Amino acid sequence: MSAQPLRAVIVGGHIGRSHAMGYLASDRIELAAVCDIDPNTLEEFGDEFDVENRYTDYETMLREEEPDLVSIGTPQQLHAWMTILAATRYSPRAIVCEKPMASNTGEGYAMLAACARNDVKLAIGHQGRWMPRHETVRQLIADGAIGQVITAFAGPPKPNAGLMNIATHQLNYWQYMLGDPTPLWVLANVQRQTDRYERGWPAEDLAGLLVEFEGDIRLSMESDTSPEGLERDLRVITGTEGVIWLAGGTAGNVIRLLRHGASGWETIEASEAEFSDARTLELDALAAWATGELDEHRGDANLAIHTLEILMGIYESTRTHSLVRLPLETKGSPLTAMIDAGDLPVRYPGHYDIRHKSATPD
Ligand SMILES: NC(=O)c1ccc[n+]([C@@H]2O[C@H](COP(=O)([O-])OP(=O)(O)OC[C@H]3O[C@@H](n4cnc5c(N)ncnc54)[C@H](O)[C@@H]3O)[C@@H](O)[C@H]2O)c1
Repeated sequence: MSAQPLRAVIVGGHIGRSHAMGYLASDRIELAAVCDIDPNTLEEFGDEFDVENRYTDYETMLREEEPDLVSIGTPQQLHAWMTILAATRYSPRAIVCEKPMASNTGEGYAMLAACARNDVKLAIGHQGRWMPRHETVRQLIADGAIGQVITAFAGPPKPNAGLMNIATHQLNYWQYMLGDPTPLWVLANVQRQTDRYERGWPAEDLAGLLVEFEGDIRLSMESDTSPEGLERDLRVITGTEGVIWLAGGTAGNVIRLLRHGASGWETIEASEAEFSDARTLELDALAAWATGELDEHRGDANLAIHTLEILMGIYESTRTHSLVRLPLETKGSPLTAMIDAGDLPVRYPGHYDIRHKSATPD
């Protein structure tokens, strides 16, 4: 561990609160300053975590604080410029930017390039990679408990999820559980008949997708389809030698395992983990990665860019009515391109946001 704690700053006073809790729980890190463009949110944020240095302007905070670690907890359309500004002008040791990595792959690759050129480590906030149930499934698969994985199925996780909001997490955890294979192609469709947004960014009503990963692994997934008849957040992995069934929704910790030749299901209890535990582990690992104590970070943006490729691949497959190979040639968002071109006409008018404070209590 480094002698001096690393100095961290946070922009965005909503999800940024979970980053603050994580930083305060780590003895590698000191929370130096917080920032929010909204003065009331900033005051509440600073008071809650007893942080004296408070800013309404992000760049002023970077310039005055010269942080080692930067947490970006603002909506996705701000992720690219905030990451690139910090990396190119203020060179912190590491940045953790919230999910989804960016609004399109062009922004995502620009973030990777800016950080690589300035020797800044970049992680994306997919903290569920530290959830014990995901770790257990990854280990079972790596140990060959079900042989070679053939297919994986993910049912709709919860209502009003959104691809960029929740499916980004789901896809990233699938990558992790499967051993981070590279995605090769996507065949998908989305429906957008309402004027739906998520934190101010256009969102689809629902989606279904098929992804092929290297190793001949196929993942099918649904987002915002009807959950009727399905177990909540159903996830089933079928291999040449068995089946893994993650039961009980995202909050559950029960993993069912059926091995070839066994007389029945084994039940494996992964240890309990709260969201905040996973966040603390994520940020503690960020500090260790920043100082070189760790060579790798599970949230490395070079892995998260594959998640963004799949997300944009879903929209691009819809736009082109075809299977699309990754990495995509299209670097902008095919969803916004379709909306702008009038290819997804709104049948039920009325702008609404699934993450507006009045729409979602969580
Ligand atoms: N990892 C997770 O589990 C998780 C959970 C929730 C949200 N998120 C992600 O975190 C991001 C933020 O989500 P949220 O729910 O906190 O959004 P939010 O809109 O509720 O809060 C964003 C905050 O950023 C502030 N802000 C906006 N522009 C700013 C600017 N230019 N400078 C400084 N502050 C600015 C806003 O005033 C607001 O307080 C999103 O990308 C979201 O997907 C991740």
